Amino acid sequence: MKILITGGAGFIGGNFCHYMVKNYPEDSFVCLDALTYAGNLETLKDLLNKPNFQFVKGNICDTNLVFNLFKKEKFDIVVNFAAESHVDRSIENPKIFLETNILGVQTLMDACKKFGIKRYHQVSTDEVYGDLPLDRKDLFFTESTPLHTSSPYSASKAAADLLVMAYHRTFNLPTTISRCSNNYGPYQFPEKLIPLIIKKALNNENLPIYGKGENVRDWLHVYDHCTAIDLIIRKGKDGEIYNIGGHNEKTNLQVVKEILKYLNKPESLITFVKDRAGHDLRYAIDPSKITNELGWKPKYTFETGIGPSIQWNIDNKKWLKNVESGEYLRFMENHYKDNIIDKKEEEGITY
Ligand code: NAD
Ligand code: TYD
Repeated sequence: MKILITGGAGFIGGNFCHYMVKNYPEDSFVCLDALTYAGNLETLKDLLNKPNFQFVKGNICDTNLVFNLFKKEKFDIVVNFAAESHVDRSIENPKIFLETNILGVQTLMDACKKFGIKRYHQVSTDEVYGDLPLDRKDLFFTESTPLHTSSPYSASKAAADLLVMAYHRTFNLPTTISRCSNNYGPYQFPEKLIPLIIKKALNNENLPIYGKGENVRDWLHVYDHCTAIDLIIRKGKDGEIYNIGGHNEKTNLQVVKEILKYLNKPESLITFVKDRAGHDLRYAIDPSKITNELGWKPKYTFETGIGPSIQWNIDNKKWLKNVESGEYLRFMENHYKDNIIDKKEEEGITY
């Protein structure tokens, strides 16, 4: 089989490329990635000389490039990870999110329609469901939870999901969608909570926690996301949506304290900063459909997965250095510049 992986120089797509090349040596893979600030070819360096792996630099919105690639390669399966993925950036500049996350998906599906494929898989997110209240631990996102987005990022991902369903219904395109909870693991870009906190803690810098650090995320090791997508593209049913998550709910403060404990760093580094606008309170996935219908089971709990992930960041400082481009540094400086409100004193918070 020939498989197109878009966005494979990013965090989850990169892990998926490694997972697939290792597990399916008989298949061949093309990775299409625009190498935005979040893409890093270094992530794929061990794959670039494999005979069944090819990297193409290009934008999923570029119709000519995408159509020529589909015509030449005749893909069986397309897995789309390519996206603008950071909520804070979508608040700063929504337009690029709508271009890549919606129009890019349309371009890919038009190519699938024209040249024929066995499956188009859209990697979506649990953020399309909006958030759950902090005081209703009995509530979870199921595949039929209504879409109710909060940020330009999640709105763009929800729009893409609706478009995918429309292409399935109208054009009979064989599609699937997965909606996963927050991922962590190797190769994650250090603008997201976990690698950002590891990086800053290692440098003894202040750790910026939005609001009171009470927001809850349902953390899944990226390896388990890869095994779930692999199952969906091989055994999932056309037109279906699958939620992916492993019941690992943690407050942001719990996550940060866990990292500090592993690194043997003081909790005094924690610094409360201005809350994110529209900040979702709690995400929590009900994964019963993928568990019951496809037999998926995660390998890691948060407790077993977080240590090796922290260690990966310690052991791969060169990779981290490489992603710190001028664009990355500009965003980080701007975003955290005027934000520091030390709520420890203001609100009498103690640890
Ligand atoms: P990422 O930001 O690390 O990587 C995105 C990749 O897409 C980068 O390599 C980038 O260069 C590439 N890209 C961006 N725009 C492109 C374009 N126009 N054309 C081609 N390539 C382009 O993102 P990630 O965290 O790996 O997320 C991958 C997918 O998984 C996204 O669709 C995201 O919505 C979804 N997702 C992420 C999480 C998470 O916790 N990170 C959770 C659930 C779902
Ligand atoms: P993030 O990793 O950006 O993922 P998402 O917004 O997609 O869930 O953020 C995870 C949580 O951590 C979220 O509640 C926001 C919070 N957060 C901070 O408290 N400080 C930070 O500097 C960042 C980047 C995130």
